[in-house]
Amino acid sequence: MSDERRFSAKSFEAPGKIILVGEHAVVYGRPAIAAPVWNATATATISEEPALKRLTLHAHDIGQTIEIDSDSPTDPLATVVRLTLMHLGYATPPARWRIDLRSSIPIAGGLGSGAAVSSALIQALFAQAERKLDRKTLSQLIFEGEKIYHGQPSGIDNTVIAYGLPVWYVKESTPLPFALDKKLRILIGNSGVAAPTKEAVADVRRAWQRDPQRYERIFTEIGAVATATRVALHSGNLAQLGTLFNRNQRLLRELDVSHPRLEQLIGAAVDAGAFGAKLSGGGRGGNVIALVDRDRQAPVRAALRAAGAQPVIETSI
Ligand code: PMV
Repeated sequence: MSDERRFSAKSFEAPGKIILVGEHAVVYGRPAIAAPVWNATATATISEEPALKRLTLHAHDIGQTIEIDSDSPTDPLATVVRLTLMHLGYATPPARWRIDLRSSIPIAGGLGSGAAVSSALIQALFAQAERKLDRKTLSQLIFEGEKIYHGQPSGIDNTVIAYGLPVWYVKESTPLPFALDKKLRILIGNSGVAAPTKEAVADVRRAWQRDPQRYERIFTEIGAVATATRVALHSGNLAQLGTLFNRNQRLLRELDVSHPRLEQLIGAAVDAGAFGAKLSGGGRGGNVIALVDRDRQAPVRAALRAAGAQPVIETSI
C-alpha cells in the first residue's frame, strides 16, 4: 500500500448482531428484540488508487477480489456496491476506488455478518462520494442486500446494525432503539454448524402454510415472550430474563429450527449456571446466546468451550 493511499484511506465499522428474542415470529409481524455485538465487526476501508481501471473490492476473509463495473456478476457484495452507487447517482462505478473489507463476524452463524458487511460498504461509499448518510437510508440500503442473503427478511438485521443500538422491532413499524441502565452480559457460542437463514425461513413458511393455526399460535406465544422480555430488560431481572430465553428456545424447538449441536451448547451453558440460553438468528446451526452475570461468566464460558463452541464471544448490552 503506498503511503499516499494509506494517508487518504477512510475506515468504517459495523457491528454484528444477536436476536435476544423473537426470531422467525418477527417475519410474521410479531415483536422481537435485537442487539448489536461490537466485539465482532466488519470494517470497510476505501481509498483512491490512480492505477486502477475498475472499482476493486478485496474481501480479505473470503479471499475474493471483485472488480465491479456496470455488468459485473450478481455476487451479493457487488450487488450492494452497485445499488449504493446507483443511489448516489453514479452511472458507472468510479474506476479508481479500492475497497478493503475485513470481518471478524462468523459467516452463516446468525450474527448478521451479511448485513454488517453491507453496512460497512455503504458507509464507505457514501464517505468517498462526500455524501451524508442517515440511519434510515443506511438501514434501507442494507435491507436491499439482505434480500439476496435471506429471501424475505423481516428487516430486523439491517435495523439493529444500522442503528448500532438494541432495538425493539416490529416489521413495517418505526423501530425503537433503546439503552439499558444496567449492563447485561451475554456469551455467544458458535456451534460451527453453518446454516443459511434463507432455508430455515423457507422451511418455517412451508410448515406455516400446511398448518397455519398451529404456527400462528407459536408465533403469538413468541411475541408474548418478546413483550415480557422488554419489561424484564428494563427492570434488570436476570432470573426472569433467563426463564424467558428458555421459554423462547422451547418455542423455537416447536418451529423445528433447533439442532442437536445447539441443544448441546444450550444444555452445557444452563448446567454451568447460565440464567437462560437459546439459539439466536435463523437456527439449524449458527450461534447460541447465554445470559450470565459477572460470577457466572467464567464457568459458563468454560462449559461452552468444553462443549465445542468456537469462538465464544462476550458482549454486553
Ligand atoms: O440473520 P439471522 O440468521 O440472524 O436471522 C434473522 C432472523 C429471522 O427472524 C430468522 C429472519 C428475519 O428476517 O427476521
